Amino acid sequence: IEETLVLIKPDGVARNLTGEILRRIEAKGYSLVDLRMLQADRDLLAAHYAEHEGKPFYEPLVEFMQSGPVVAVRVAGNRVIEGFRVLAGTTDPTTAAPGTIRGDFGRDWGLKVQQNLVHGSDSVESAERELALWFA
Ligand code: GTP
Ligand code: MG
Repeated sequence: IEETLVLIKPDGVARNLTGEILRRIEAKGYSLVDLRMLQADRDLLAAHYAEHEGKPFYEPLVEFMQSGPVVAVRVAGNRVIEGFRVLAGTTDPTTAAPGTIRGDFGRDWGLKVQQNLVHGSDSVESAERELALWFA
């Protein structure tokens, strides 16, 4: 059984969408294994987003992720890494398909960072690395 890291980003928590997002994960048949709400610090986010360092959206993204609490969730299921990314929808909330978390609830406020509500690990290697960071 595979595991992935889901983050409910500060916009999702602030808009009271935590329950709705967890509901969709559970309704799909995936299991919540562990869950914590925390204020992420810069070191944790720098490690989490190391692959994006130097990109134009990196600094605003790291700032945004510190703007309020996030919910980190360890989720298990068959092919859950790919499956959660389908539930989430594509990165840009404006063009994410309706029926997905980002398509239904994500908003483009014209800010530098897309308020796209959730993060999901993108590979087995990323999932292992990220779960070790957020559930140390
Ligand atoms: P995550 O599940 O959050 O990792 O999203 P993703 O895998 O769909 O996107 P990616 O890992 O490429 O980027 C991580 C996060 O950086 C995204 O979720 C966005 O919040 C932000 N981001 C990525 N690409 C862009 C971009 O081109 N412009 C802006 N403004 N933000 C971006
Ligand atoms: Mg990503």
